[in-house]
Amino acid sequence: MLRSALLNVMIKAAHKAARALKRDFGEVEQLQVSLKGPANFVSAADHRAEEILCAELSAARPGYGFLGEEGGRREGTDRTHTWIVDPLDGTSNFLHGIPHFAISIGLEREGEIVAGLVYNPIDDELFTAERGKGAFLNDRRLRVAARQRLADAVIACGLPHLGRGDLALNNRELAAVQPKVAGLRRFGAAALDLAWVAAGRFDGFWERGLSPWDVAAGSILVREAGGFVTDLDGADTPWISGDVVAGNETMHRELTRLVNSAARP
Ligand code: IPD
Ligand code: CA
Ligand code: CA
Repeated sequence: MLRSALLNVMIKAAHKAARALKRDFGEVEQLQVSLKGPANFVSAADHRAEEILCAELSAARPGYGFLGEEGGRREGTDRTHTWIVDPLDGTSNFLHGIPHFAISIGLEREGEIVAGLVYNPIDDELFTAERGKGAFLNDRRLRVAARQRLADAVIACGLPHLGRGDLALNNRELAAVQPKVAGLRRFGAAALDLAWVAAGRFDGFWERGLSPWDVAAGSILVREAGGFVTDLDGADTPWISGDVVAGNETMHRELTRLVNSAARP
């Protein structure tokens, strides 16, 4: 498959970081059984992966800014472009030896996401998209699911956990959505949740309180697969507020309505 120079840069960086993550994931599976656990090791693993991504992307596109979960913002000389990177989305899964995590790379140009990559190194699923050029899983063109009825839909979500999020609000949202859908899933890697909406595996997804690096790449995947992704107020820059809702046009509208009804009872 012929890919643009830009996507090739992103893919090369992701593959290099993925090699390190895969090695470290193997170690984590060993460390599982020790009493101390692998937590410190994992926080070193995502720093390592981010450094690789930053070095690779900066070498290929000198001057672009870089916003990473671990290292924060590094300004570039080119103020119009910023990489938005999560070197390891799905840390809890990684830490527990669950093979569902990803590298996420988005490219922002003057406030818009123009390219995105989400890569799960364990099953070698590479999701890519560029503005106006479609979304792909490896070489296959993606299209969001066509289902029109919530009753047939499998919806992914986030759940607040220890010290994070608004549990009461989330419980109200679940109470609003759960009885209306065919299935709810909480897989623990928001970038993959969005990629799976793009791939038509999930019919929709919502989660509050995400960060730009969780959402940037996934949002262009959904759009280029013909889907809708906004924040819960309908703004088309969900990576800014971090409150995200995604799906085909109908699922996006219905989920937005249901989730907002829980917030304003
Ligand atoms: C987390 C995952 C998770 C979401 C959390 C994120 P991390 O990212 O995307 O699915 O529910 O809000 O922080 O910490 O694994 O990079
Ligand atoms: Ca993340
Ligand atoms: Ca992360």
